[in-house]
Formats: sequence, structure tokens, C-alpha cells
Amino acid sequence: MSVGIGERLPDVRVAQVTARRFVSRSTAQVFGSGRVLIVGVPGAFTPVCTTRHLPPYVSRARELLDQGYDEVACIAPNSPWTVSAWAETLDPDLNLQFFADGNMAFGRALGLTTTLPDLFIGECYRRFVLECQDGIIEALTVENSELDVACTDVEAFIKPAQEIGWRRRPN
Ligand code: BEZ
Repeated sequence: MSVGIGERLPDVRVAQVTARRFVSRSTAQVFGSGRVLIVGVPGAFTPVCTTRHLPPYVSRARELLDQGYDEVACIAPNSPWTVSAWAETLDPDLNLQFFADGNMAFGRALGLTTTLPDLFIGECYRRFVLECQDGIIEALTVENSELDVACTDVEAFIKPAQEIGWRRRPN
């Protein structure tokens, strides 16, 4: 069973990946304050994650931050070296924060892992987006199929202009 709304994020260690480096961090430290959007993907370098899911988060990270998120993070169940190489390809300017959960500690604690034996990927994450405020889960969106990008598309997390107070100037 996966974590529920209103619960605190599990506190485990993950690797925060920056340009060709990684640092071990607790999830309470990196996701525990402010408003955080966490995009969980089945795997770095997999086709759907690389071509469809992540690129719009990279190109629209600024909009998400401007709309009130303090951090937009991507976490993948791979080694820090793999996530680092992937981040360099996908987001060389590091608009997103990248994390590697090769130990599956975060994914298992959230109850958001799966296996896809036909795809030979081993245990991996489900495709999900978590919205948290000060370490408390406010919303969890999970795709029915790991090969789909429907409810976890970035569009679902961008507020329409009227909700953020943009108005056409009267003539
Ligand atoms: C993907 O392309 O994102 C993907 C591939 C295999 C398993 C899960 C996801």
C-alpha cells in the first residue's frame, strides 16, 4: 500500500546529484521544508521518461517555481552515476533537483515500487508525482501504467493563468 495524504514523507537516505557529484542526504532534509513537487520515474534513460515525461518539467520548471513551488525534484531508482549522466543529458542547467534512489529506500517506504518482468527492468518506481508542504504529503498522483504519461504530465501541475491572478488589461 502506498503512503496517504496527510502523512509525513518517510525519512531515508538518497543521493542528491549535482554536476558529476553526489552527496548522501536525508529526505527530511531535502524535501522537508517548503512546497516541494517530487516527480518519481521508473528509470533514468528509459524511453518514456527521457523523451516524454521529464523534458516538459525541465522546460517549465521556472513556471512551477513562479507558481509557488520552492523545489521541483526528480528522483529515479538508479545509481547516482546513472542519474548524473541522465541529468546532464536532459537538464544540463539543472533546472530540476535530481536524486538517485538506487537502494529503493524512498520508493519502498512510499509503497511506490513495482516490477515489470516483461520489460526486464527489475524493481523500479511507479510513475508518480508527490506534492508536499513542509514534509507532509498533500497530493499523490500515480499512473496506472508505467508507460503512460497522463495524470503525471507537467500540465496537471501548472495552474491556469486566472488562478494565479493574471488578468487581461481592460481596453
Ligand atoms: C519508460 O520508457 O519510461 C519505461 C520503460 C520500461 C519500464 C518502465 C518505464
